[in-house]
Amino acid sequence: MFKSIFQLFSIARKLASSGAVGIINEIYNIPFVIKLFFDLFAIGSKKKLLQNNKKPGEKLCDALEDMGTTFIKLGQFLATRPDIIGEALADDLAKLQDKLPPFELHESKKILKKEIGENLYKNIIDLSEPIAAASIAQVHIAKINIDNKINEVAIKILRPDIEKQFNEELDALMLFAYIVESTFRKTKRLKLVEVVHLLRKITNIEMDLRFEAAAANELYENTKNDQGFNVPKIYWNYTSKKILTLDKVDGISIREQKLLEESGVNLKDLAENLIQHFLKQTVRDGFFHGDMHQGNLFVDKKGNIIPVDFGIMGRLDKNNRKYLAEILYGFIQRDYVKVAEIHFQAGLVPQNASREEFAQALRSVGEPIFGQSIKNISGGNLLAHLFEITEKFNMPTQTPLLLLQKNMVVVEGVARKLYPETNIWEISKPVLEDWIKNIKSPKTTFDTAINTSGEILKRIPDFPNFMDKANYALQLLAEGKLNLGLKNSEGLEIEEMKLKGLRNNIIISFLGVVIVVLLVF
Ligand SMILES: Nc1ncnc2c1ncn2[C@@H]1O[C@H](COP(=O)(O)OP(=O)(O)O)[C@@H](O)[C@H]1O
Ligand SMILES: [Mg+2]
Repeated sequence: MFKSIFQLFSIARKLASSGAVGIINEIYNIPFVIKLFFDLFAIGSKKKLLQNNKKPGEKLCDALEDMGTTFIKLGQFLATRPDIIGEALADDLAKLQDKLPPFELHESKKILKKEIGENLYKNIIDLSEPIAAASIAQVHIAKINIDNKINEVAIKILRPDIEKQFNEELDALMLFAYIVESTFRKTKRLKLVEVVHLLRKITNIEMDLRFEAAAANELYENTKNDQGFNVPKIYWNYTSKKILTLDKVDGISIREQKLLEESGVNLKDLAENLIQHFLKQTVRDGFFHGDMHQGNLFVDKKGNIIPVDFGIMGRLDKNNRKYLAEILYGFIQRDYVKVAEIHFQAGLVPQNASREEFAQALRSVGEPIFGQSIKNISGGNLLAHLFEITEKFNMPTQTPLLLLQKNMVVVEGVARKLYPETNIWEISKPVLEDWIKNIKSPKTTFDTAINTSGEILKRIPDFPNFMDKANYALQLLAEGKLNLGLKNSEGLEIEEMKLKGLRNNIIISFLGVVIVVLLVF
């Protein structure tokens, strides 16, 4: 327990001196006692001066970035929860930079040796200095000699002790959240305990690189016959919980438009391909890369798209896919009655709602879009408006569809940067038509049976048996079962019970420790 209390105090000090408490107070008006608690801990520490010309949300980003992994992850998580912190703050937090100074090469070598053993380690030649470093891991380039063939690879390595540090800091945050929530009723709506609990679950999955390897593998299998989209291959013998080894991307960042053009890549085609591949994977496989920003996309000289970073993936079940393809296609055809009918048939809208009113609401989503010039039309924005409307008709949006919608906005943004006149409708139409034709064909039932067994085969572990677990967890995550869907999971209840006991001890110890801290600083 003392460890948690000690952590709690060191976090309180970190929070107070980073300036974060001041900013949170600007936004939420923190209860006086809590503010006093932090002020006490800031005594003697150098308070960081934050630039005053920035918005509170931007200043909060700066403060969180300074506080390291746990707080960067907390900020990223809150950015996905506008229902808790509001749209404006969530938008600001979405700009949080996930960058930290790299750790040293010799540390990386030590971890590698420990994870794969001396024998395999000997096959690694030329391990580079880190080429990128984020809050959880960093990436190196290397060559590996496998059966006398030299393979160029990228190796992602978890930060040393990151899991331990993260969980200790979260224990303390959990305690803090619990004390605040059970002492100040009005803070209940911020769901502090639930936030910390979910953050722990999600991030612990990110801290096991085998999950990412399994996701990359599944995307590779799904797309291996798709022209123009190449997923790097995983080296399973050189992959463990703490390291992930995959083919080095032989390509140019999608950001480098000039370089791409110089090497003969047609940016218009590239923009189209990007959207089509993304949509095809979403409706055909129900499995899509959930973080397709420019930093994670590369292009080779032939114009093939190569994604990296498979930490966040989305999964849509068959019903969600069908729903998605049909409504998007309905909107493209401007057939609002049909789109409304799809919602009713699927039982998504309460039967007592008025069909006419619902179709009218859908028209209000679709029509303004057609009044815009082609370059402003966006499938992602359309879906965002659609979900606003469906929520008004008591149809809660499912988490996987939300992730899809957010990602669609990102993908369209990347495509428009490549080619501003990209016509999203024209490009999406053939993919959606193909898929709808496919699911409606008479032989579909037969195909479904085959597909299902294919699906199962795909999930049978290739080599190590951890794949099962990895896939299972990924699936839960993608289906939102590890994520937002949970209100009061079993784990959360156990955690809360433990905390209840701790809280009383803490309050007694608190006064004692405050005195000690005041004496020390
Ligand atoms: N297979 C690879 N080949 C070449 N570079 C890579 C590869 N994987 C990652 N990188 C580089 O490392 C950076 C960080 O890797 P990424 O997997 O995106 O980690 P993070 O989750 O920290 O964003 C990428 O933006 C890319 O520049
Ligand atoms: Mg990345």
